[in-house]
Amino acid sequence: MSIVSKRVHSADAAFAAVRDFYVSSRYAKHRTDPGICDFTFGNPHEMPLDGLVGAIRQRAIPHDKDWFAYKTSEERPQAFLAKCVSKELGLGFEPADIALTAGAFAAIMVAFRLVLDAGEEAVFSEPAWFCYEPMLLAADAVPRKVALKGPDFDLDLPAIEAAIGPRTRLVIVNSPHNPTGRIYGRELLQALADLLERASARIGRRIFLLSDEPYRRLRFDGRGFVSPAALYPWALISYSYGKVLLAPGQRLGYLALSPLMPLADRQALRDVMFSAQMALGWCFPNAVMQYAVVDLEQLSIDQAALARRRERLTAALTAAGFTVLRPEGTFYLWSKWPPGDPERHWAMLADRKVFVMPGSIMNSPAYLRISLTASDPMVERALPAFAAIGGL
Ligand SMILES: Cc1ncc(COP(=O)(O)O)c(C=O)c1O
Repeated sequence: MSIVSKRVHSADAAFAAVRDFYVSSRYAKHRTDPGICDFTFGNPHEMPLDGLVGAIRQRAIPHDKDWFAYKTSEERPQAFLAKCVSKELGLGFEPADIALTAGAFAAIMVAFRLVLDAGEEAVFSEPAWFCYEPMLLAADAVPRKVALKGPDFDLDLPAIEAAIGPRTRLVIVNSPHNPTGRIYGRELLQALADLLERASARIGRRIFLLSDEPYRRLRFDGRGFVSPAALYPWALISYSYGKVLLAPGQRLGYLALSPLMPLADRQALRDVMFSAQMALGWCFPNAVMQYAVVDLEQLSIDQAALARRRERLTAALTAAGFTVLRPEGTFYLWSKWPPGDPERHWAMLADRKVFVMPGSIMNSPAYLRISLTASDPMVERALPAFAAIGGL
Protein backbone atom coordinates (compact mmCIF):
# COMPACT_ATOMS: atom_id res chain seq x y z
CA MET A 1 0.00 0.00 0.00
CA SER A 2 1.32 3.43 -0.89
CA ILE A 3 2.15 5.97 1.80
CA VAL A 4 0.85 8.67 -0.58
CA SER A 5 -2.80 9.71 -0.43
CA LYS A 6 -5.29 8.35 -3.00
CA ARG A 7 -6.08 11.91 -4.03
CA VAL A 8 -2.45 12.53 -4.95
CA HIS A 9 -2.28 9.25 -6.85
CA SER A 10 -5.36 10.01 -8.94
CA ALA A 11 -4.09 13.52 -9.80
CA ASP A 12 -0.69 12.06 -10.60
CA ALA A 13 -2.19 9.51 -12.98
CA ALA A 14 -4.11 12.27 -14.81
CA PHE A 15 -0.92 14.30 -15.09
CA ALA A 16 1.34 11.38 -16.06
CA ALA A 17 1.40 11.98 -19.84
CA VAL A 18 2.53 15.59 -19.63
CA ARG A 19 4.84 14.95 -16.67
CA ASP A 20 6.62 12.14 -18.50
CA PHE A 21 6.91 14.34 -21.58
CA TYR A 22 8.39 17.13 -19.47
CA VAL A 23 10.62 15.03 -17.24
CA SER A 24 11.71 11.84 -18.99
CA SER A 25 10.83 11.92 -22.70
CA ARG A 26 13.25 12.25 -25.57
CA TYR A 27 12.27 15.94 -25.55
CA ALA A 28 13.19 16.24 -21.85
CA LYS A 29 16.65 14.82 -22.58
CA HIS A 30 17.29 17.38 -25.31
CA ARG A 31 15.41 20.41 -24.02
CA THR A 32 18.56 22.37 -23.23
CA ASP A 33 20.64 21.26 -26.23
CA PRO A 34 21.78 24.21 -28.30
CA GLY A 35 20.32 24.23 -31.80
CA ILE A 36 17.04 22.44 -31.10
CA CYS A 37 13.76 23.90 -32.37
CA ASP A 38 11.49 23.91 -29.34
CA PHE A 39 7.77 24.24 -30.17
CA THR A 40 6.54 22.40 -27.09
CA PHE A 41 5.52 24.53 -24.08
CA GLY A 42 4.66 28.23 -24.07
CA ASN A 43 8.08 29.22 -22.82
CA PRO A 44 10.32 32.10 -23.95
CA HIS A 45 13.16 31.35 -26.34
CA GLU A 46 14.50 34.88 -26.48
CA MET A 47 15.50 37.40 -23.84
CA PRO A 48 12.63 38.85 -21.72
CA LEU A 49 10.87 42.13 -22.46
CA ASP A 50 12.99 45.13 -21.41
CA GLY A 51 10.04 46.71 -19.63
CA LEU A 52 9.53 43.59 -17.54
CA VAL A 53 13.12 43.53 -16.36
CA GLY A 54 13.10 47.29 -15.62
CA ALA A 55 9.87 47.07 -13.61
CA ILE A 56 11.03 44.14 -11.48
CA ARG A 57 14.38 45.80 -10.83
CA GLN A 58 12.79 49.11 -9.90
CA ARG A 59 10.05 47.60 -7.73
CA ALA A 60 12.50 45.40 -5.84
CA ILE A 61 14.02 48.49 -4.19
CA PRO A 62 12.34 48.77 -0.76
CA HIS A 63 10.58 52.02 0.16
CA ASP A 64 9.84 51.02 3.75
CA LYS A 65 10.38 48.26 6.31
CA ASP A 66 7.22 46.43 5.19
CA TRP A 67 8.27 46.12 1.57
CA PHE A 68 8.80 42.38 1.79
CA ALA A 69 6.32 41.66 4.60
CA TYR A 70 3.53 39.11 3.97
CA LYS A 71 1.40 40.32 1.05
CA THR A 72 -2.17 39.21 0.46
CA SER A 73 -4.36 40.97 -2.13
CA GLU A 74 -2.94 44.44 -1.61
CA GLU A 75 -5.33 47.36 -1.83
CA ARG A 76 -3.47 49.35 -4.46
CA PRO A 77 -3.12 46.61 -7.08
CA GLN A 78 -6.69 45.49 -6.37
CA ALA A 79 -8.01 48.99 -7.04
CA PHE A 80 -5.76 49.40 -10.07
CA LEU A 81 -6.82 46.06 -11.56
CA ALA A 82 -10.51 46.70 -10.88
CA LYS A 83 -10.20 49.81 -13.03
CA CYS A 84 -8.22 48.11 -15.83
CA VAL A 85 -10.35 44.98 -16.04
CA SER A 86 -13.56 47.02 -15.95
CA LYS A 87 -12.34 49.00 -18.93
CA GLU A 88 -11.10 45.95 -20.80
CA LEU A 89 -14.24 43.84 -20.33
CA GLY A 90 -16.84 46.61 -20.12
CA LEU A 91 -17.98 45.48 -16.67
CA GLY A 92 -17.92 47.36 -13.38
CA PHE A 93 -15.56 45.39 -11.11
CA GLU A 94 -15.08 46.60 -7.55
CA PRO A 95 -11.64 46.17 -5.95
CA ALA A 96 -13.03 43.48 -3.62
CA ASP A 97 -14.00 41.41 -6.69
CA ILE A 98 -10.33 40.96 -7.61
CA ALA A 99 -8.19 38.50 -5.70
CA LEU A 100 -4.52 38.66 -6.67
CA THR A 101 -3.03 35.23 -7.23
CA ALA A 102 0.22 33.55 -8.17
CA GLY A 103 -0.88 33.22 -11.81
CA ALA A 104 -3.91 31.49 -13.29
CA PHE A 105 -2.90 28.14 -11.76
CA ALA A 106 -3.54 29.52 -8.28
CA ALA A 107 -6.67 31.38 -9.41
CA ILE A 108 -8.13 28.14 -10.80
CA MET A 109 -7.32 26.15 -7.69
CA VAL A 110 -8.87 28.85 -5.49
CA ALA A 111 -11.99 28.84 -7.70
CA PHE A 112 -12.27 25.05 -7.29
CA ARG A 113 -11.88 25.48 -3.54
CA LEU A 114 -14.58 28.14 -3.40
CA VAL A 115 -17.35 26.31 -5.25
CA LEU A 116 -16.63 22.57 -5.32
CA ASP A 117 -17.24 20.19 -2.45
CA ALA A 118 -15.67 16.72 -2.45
CA GLY A 119 -17.34 14.48 -5.03
CA GLU A 120 -18.97 17.34 -6.96
CA GLU A 121 -18.55 17.53 -10.70
CA ALA A 122 -16.94 20.05 -13.03
CA VAL A 123 -17.57 19.89 -16.77
CA PHE A 124 -14.94 20.92 -19.32
CA SER A 125 -14.39 20.39 -23.03
CA GLU A 126 -11.60 18.39 -24.68
CA PRO A 127 -8.98 18.77 -26.02
CA ALA A 128 -8.13 20.93 -23.04
CA TRP A 129 -5.23 22.36 -21.10
CA PHE A 130 -3.75 19.27 -19.47
CA CYS A 131 -3.96 20.58 -15.88
CA TYR A 132 -7.74 20.94 -15.35
CA GLU A 133 -8.18 17.23 -14.76
CA PRO A 134 -5.33 16.69 -12.25
CA MET A 135 -6.23 19.92 -10.47
CA LEU A 136 -9.87 18.84 -10.14
CA LEU A 137 -8.79 15.45 -8.85
CA ALA A 138 -6.42 17.13 -6.39
CA ALA A 139 -9.45 19.13 -5.19
CA ASP A 140 -11.39 15.87 -4.65
CA ALA A 141 -13.78 16.90 -7.42
CA VAL A 142 -14.95 14.78 -10.36
CA PRO A 143 -13.95 15.84 -13.90
CA ARG A 144 -16.66 15.40 -16.57
CA LYS A 145 -15.16 15.68 -20.04
CA VAL A 146 -17.11 16.59 -23.16
CA ALA A 147 -15.61 16.54 -26.66
CA LEU A 148 -15.29 19.78 -28.63
CA LYS A 149 -17.06 19.64 -31.96
CA GLY A 150 -14.78 19.00 -34.95
CA PRO A 151 -13.49 20.12 -37.35
CA ASP A 152 -13.49 23.65 -35.85
CA PHE A 153 -13.50 22.59 -32.21
CA ASP A 154 -16.55 24.61 -31.23
CA LEU A 155 -18.17 24.14 -27.83
CA ASP A 156 -20.73 21.35 -28.11
CA LEU A 157 -23.59 22.87 -26.12
CA PRO A 158 -26.00 19.90 -26.27
CA ALA A 159 -23.18 17.63 -25.04
CA ILE A 160 -22.40 20.04 -22.18
CA GLU A 161 -26.08 20.16 -21.25
CA ALA A 162 -26.26 16.36 -21.31
CA ALA A 163 -23.17 16.11 -19.07
CA ILE A 164 -24.76 18.28 -16.38
CA GLY A 165 -26.33 16.24 -13.60
CA PRO A 166 -27.40 16.70 -9.99
CA ARG A 167 -23.80 16.83 -8.76
CA THR A 168 -22.58 19.41 -11.30
CA ARG A 169 -21.36 22.58 -9.69
CA LEU A 170 -18.99 24.09 -12.24
CA VAL A 171 -18.48 24.42 -16.00
CA ILE A 172 -15.04 25.54 -17.21
CA VAL A 173 -14.67 27.55 -20.42
CA ASN A 174 -11.29 28.55 -21.83
CA SER A 175 -11.27 31.22 -24.53
CA PRO A 176 -8.98 31.96 -26.34
CA HIS A 177 -8.58 28.24 -26.19
CA ASN A 178 -5.49 26.19 -25.50
CA PRO A 179 -4.70 24.14 -27.60
CA THR A 180 -6.99 24.99 -30.54
CA GLY A 181 -6.59 28.78 -30.63
CA ARG A 182 -10.37 29.22 -30.96
CA ILE A 183 -12.10 32.32 -29.58
CA TYR A 184 -15.77 31.71 -28.82
CA GLY A 185 -18.15 34.41 -30.04
CA ARG A 186 -20.90 36.24 -28.21
CA GLU A 187 -23.75 34.23 -29.69
CA LEU A 188 -22.31 30.88 -28.63
CA LEU A 189 -21.45 32.18 -25.16
CA GLN A 190 -24.93 33.66 -24.74
CA ALA A 191 -26.39 30.27 -25.66
CA LEU A 192 -24.07 28.71 -23.05
CA ALA A 193 -25.26 31.24 -20.44
CA ASP A 194 -28.90 30.40 -21.26
CA LEU A 195 -28.06 26.70 -21.01
CA LEU A 196 -26.46 27.15 -17.57
CA GLU A 197 -29.48 29.10 -16.37
CA ARG A 198 -31.77 26.31 -17.60
CA ALA A 199 -29.60 23.53 -16.20
CA SER A 200 -29.30 25.27 -12.80
CA ALA A 201 -33.10 25.37 -12.63
CA ARG A 202 -33.30 21.73 -13.71
CA ILE A 203 -30.94 20.42 -11.02
CA GLY A 204 -32.18 22.85 -8.40
CA ARG A 205 -28.84 24.46 -7.58
CA ARG A 206 -26.67 27.16 -9.01
CA ILE A 207 -23.99 26.09 -11.49
CA PHE A 208 -20.91 28.32 -11.58
CA LEU A 209 -18.87 29.10 -14.65
CA LEU A 210 -15.09 29.43 -14.54
CA SER A 211 -13.88 31.53 -17.45
CA ASP A 212 -10.19 30.74 -17.79
CA GLU A 213 -8.84 33.67 -19.83
CA PRO A 214 -5.05 33.80 -19.55
CA TYR A 215 -4.72 34.28 -23.35
CA ARG A 216 -7.36 37.01 -23.45
CA ARG A 217 -5.04 39.64 -24.93
CA LEU A 218 -3.40 37.33 -27.44
CA ARG A 219 -5.67 37.61 -30.46
CA PHE A 220 -4.95 37.64 -34.17
CA ASP A 221 -6.42 39.73 -37.00
CA GLY A 222 -7.89 42.37 -34.63
CA ARG A 223 -10.45 39.91 -33.31
CA GLY A 224 -12.62 40.97 -30.39
CA PHE A 225 -13.09 39.12 -27.14
CA VAL A 226 -16.23 38.55 -25.07
CA SER A 227 -15.84 37.23 -21.57
CA PRO A 228 -18.48 34.68 -20.57
CA ALA A 229 -18.49 36.59 -17.27
CA ALA A 230 -20.26 39.43 -19.12
CA LEU A 231 -23.13 37.09 -20.05
CA TYR A 232 -23.55 34.74 -17.08
CA PRO A 233 -23.59 36.34 -13.61
CA TRP A 234 -22.33 33.36 -11.59
CA ALA A 235 -18.93 33.50 -13.26
CA LEU A 236 -15.36 33.68 -12.00
CA ILE A 237 -12.47 34.73 -14.22
CA SER A 238 -8.97 33.32 -13.91
CA TYR A 239 -6.24 35.44 -15.48
CA SER A 240 -2.45 35.35 -15.71
CA TYR A 241 0.22 37.81 -16.83
CA GLY A 242 2.43 34.82 -17.64
CA LYS A 243 1.20 34.63 -21.25
CA VAL A 244 1.03 38.27 -22.32
CA LEU A 245 4.46 38.93 -20.78
CA LEU A 246 5.80 35.53 -21.80
CA ALA A 247 7.22 35.19 -18.31
CA PRO A 248 5.35 32.27 -16.75
CA GLY A 249 7.99 31.89 -14.04
CA GLN A 250 7.15 35.32 -12.61
CA ARG A 251 3.83 34.35 -11.06
CA LEU A 252 1.14 37.03 -11.27
CA GLY A 253 -2.58 36.81 -12.00
CA TYR A 254 -5.98 37.12 -10.40
CA LEU A 255 -9.33 35.54 -9.77
CA ALA A 256 -12.15 38.01 -10.50
CA LEU A 257 -15.81 37.66 -9.58
CA SER A 258 -18.28 38.80 -12.21
CA PRO A 259 -19.82 42.07 -11.02
CA LEU A 260 -23.10 40.81 -12.49
CA MET A 261 -23.28 38.20 -9.71
CA PRO A 262 -25.89 39.20 -7.11
CA LEU A 263 -24.15 41.06 -4.32
CA ALA A 264 -25.13 38.57 -1.60
CA ASP A 265 -23.47 35.70 -3.51
CA ARG A 266 -20.49 37.81 -4.44
CA GLN A 267 -20.05 38.91 -0.84
CA ALA A 268 -20.21 35.29 0.34
CA LEU A 269 -17.30 34.46 -2.01
CA ARG A 270 -15.37 37.62 -1.11
CA ASP A 271 -15.67 36.76 2.58
CA VAL A 272 -13.91 33.42 2.21
CA MET A 273 -11.40 34.41 -0.47
CA PHE A 274 -8.57 35.28 1.91
CA SER A 275 -8.80 32.08 3.92
CA ALA A 276 -9.14 29.94 0.76
CA GLN A 277 -6.00 31.49 -0.74
CA MET A 278 -4.11 31.15 2.51
CA ALA A 279 -5.23 27.58 3.22
CA LEU A 280 -4.19 26.43 -0.25
CA GLY A 281 -0.62 27.49 0.46
CA TRP A 282 -0.42 31.25 0.18
CA CYS A 283 -1.72 31.63 -3.37
CA PHE A 284 -0.94 35.36 -3.45
CA PRO A 285 1.70 36.78 -5.79
CA ASN A 286 4.97 37.87 -4.25
CA ALA A 287 5.44 41.46 -3.12
CA VAL A 288 7.53 42.69 -6.07
CA MET A 289 5.07 41.39 -8.68
CA GLN A 290 2.22 43.09 -6.83
CA TYR A 291 4.00 46.46 -6.89
CA ALA A 292 5.01 45.97 -10.53
CA VAL A 293 1.51 45.28 -11.83
CA VAL A 294 0.97 48.96 -12.74
CA ASP A 295 3.99 48.79 -15.05
CA LEU A 296 3.34 45.31 -16.37
CA GLU A 297 -0.23 46.06 -17.36
CA GLN A 298 1.15 48.20 -20.21
CA LEU A 299 3.40 45.52 -21.70
CA SER A 300 2.90 42.76 -24.22
CA ILE A 301 4.99 40.25 -26.10
CA ASP A 302 5.50 41.01 -29.76
CA GLN A 303 2.15 39.97 -31.20
CA ALA A 304 3.24 40.82 -34.74
CA ALA A 305 5.98 38.20 -34.36
CA LEU A 306 3.41 35.60 -33.27
CA ALA A 307 1.27 36.44 -36.31
CA ARG A 308 4.31 36.20 -38.60
CA ARG A 309 5.19 32.75 -37.25
CA ARG A 310 1.57 31.66 -37.55
CA GLU A 311 1.61 32.55 -41.26
CA ARG A 312 4.98 30.98 -41.97
CA LEU A 313 4.16 27.72 -40.22
CA THR A 314 0.58 27.48 -41.48
CA ALA A 315 1.81 27.75 -45.07
CA ALA A 316 4.65 25.27 -44.59
CA LEU A 317 2.59 22.71 -42.69
CA THR A 318 -0.33 22.91 -45.09
CA ALA A 319 2.04 22.37 -48.03
CA ALA A 320 3.42 19.32 -46.21
CA GLY A 321 -0.02 17.72 -45.79
CA PHE A 322 -0.82 18.78 -42.24
CA THR A 323 -4.37 20.05 -41.60
CA VAL A 324 -3.90 23.29 -39.68
CA LEU A 325 -6.67 24.95 -37.68
CA ARG A 326 -5.85 28.62 -38.13
CA PRO A 327 -5.63 30.01 -34.58
CA GLU A 328 -7.76 33.06 -33.75
CA GLY A 329 -5.92 33.64 -30.47
CA THR A 330 -3.34 32.24 -27.98
CA PHE A 331 0.20 31.53 -29.11
CA TYR A 332 -0.46 27.97 -30.21
CA LEU A 333 -1.14 26.32 -33.51
CA TRP A 334 -3.20 23.14 -33.50
CA SER A 335 -2.87 20.81 -36.42
CA LYS A 336 -3.69 17.32 -37.55
CA TRP A 337 -0.72 15.18 -38.56
CA PRO A 338 -0.56 14.04 -42.19
CA PRO A 339 -1.74 10.45 -42.73
CA GLY A 340 0.50 7.84 -41.12
CA ASP A 341 1.64 7.02 -37.61
CA PRO A 342 1.72 10.18 -35.40
CA GLU A 343 4.36 8.66 -33.11
CA ARG A 344 6.61 7.98 -36.05
CA HIS A 345 6.06 11.50 -37.37
CA TRP A 346 6.94 12.93 -33.95
CA ALA A 347 10.11 10.85 -33.80
CA MET A 348 11.14 11.90 -37.31
CA LEU A 349 10.83 15.55 -36.31
CA ALA A 350 12.83 14.81 -33.15
CA ASP A 351 15.54 13.13 -35.29
CA ARG A 352 15.85 16.53 -36.97
CA LYS A 353 15.95 18.34 -33.58
CA VAL A 354 12.41 19.65 -33.94
CA PHE A 355 10.19 19.10 -30.90
CA VAL A 356 6.43 19.62 -30.87
CA MET A 357 3.80 18.73 -28.31
CA PRO A 358 2.09 15.47 -29.25
CA GLY A 359 -1.71 15.71 -29.21
CA SER A 360 -1.80 12.43 -27.27
CA ILE A 361 -1.00 14.53 -24.17
CA MET A 362 -4.37 16.22 -24.74
CA ASN A 363 -6.19 13.01 -25.62
CA SER A 364 -5.96 13.79 -29.35
CA PRO A 365 -3.29 11.50 -30.82
CA ALA A 366 -4.03 12.52 -34.42
CA TYR A 367 -3.00 16.12 -33.60
CA LEU A 368 0.01 18.14 -32.52
CA ARG A 369 0.41 21.53 -30.86
CA ILE A 370 3.05 24.01 -31.90
CA SER A 371 3.98 26.91 -29.65
CA LEU A 372 4.56 30.11 -31.61
CA THR A 373 6.80 31.33 -28.80
CA ALA A 374 9.65 29.56 -30.63
CA SER A 375 12.09 32.08 -32.10
CA ASP A 376 12.08 33.06 -35.81
CA PRO A 377 15.39 31.23 -36.39
CA MET A 378 13.84 28.07 -34.87
CA VAL A 379 10.90 28.39 -37.25
CA GLU A 380 13.19 28.76 -40.26
CA ARG A 381 15.40 25.84 -39.22
CA ALA A 382 12.35 23.62 -38.66
CA LEU A 383 10.69 24.14 -42.06
CA PRO A 384 12.66 21.41 -43.90
CA ALA A 385 11.81 18.92 -41.13
CA PHE A 386 8.08 19.58 -41.47
CA ALA A 387 8.43 19.33 -45.26
CA ALA A 388 10.19 15.96 -44.87
CA ILE A 389 7.19 14.54 -42.99
CA GLY A 390 5.00 15.56 -45.93
CA GLY A 391 7.37 13.84 -48.35
CA LEU A 392 6.95 10.41 -46.75
C1 LIG B 1 -5.65 27.40 -20.44
C2 LIG B 1 -4.65 27.68 -19.39
N1 LIG B 1 -5.07 28.03 -18.17
C3 LIG B 1 -4.20 28.31 -17.19
C4 LIG B 1 -2.84 28.25 -17.40
C5 LIG B 1 -1.90 28.57 -16.27
O1 LIG B 1 -1.26 29.79 -16.50
P1 LIG B 1 -0.12 30.29 -15.50
O2 LIG B 1 0.99 29.28 -15.53
O3 LIG B 1 0.33 31.59 -16.06
O4 LIG B 1 -0.71 30.38 -14.17
C6 LIG B 1 -2.36 27.87 -18.65
C7 LIG B 1 -0.91 27.73 -18.89
O5 LIG B 1 -0.46 27.15 -19.83
C8 LIG B 1 -3.28 27.59 -19.68
O6 LIG B 1 -2.88 27.23 -20.90
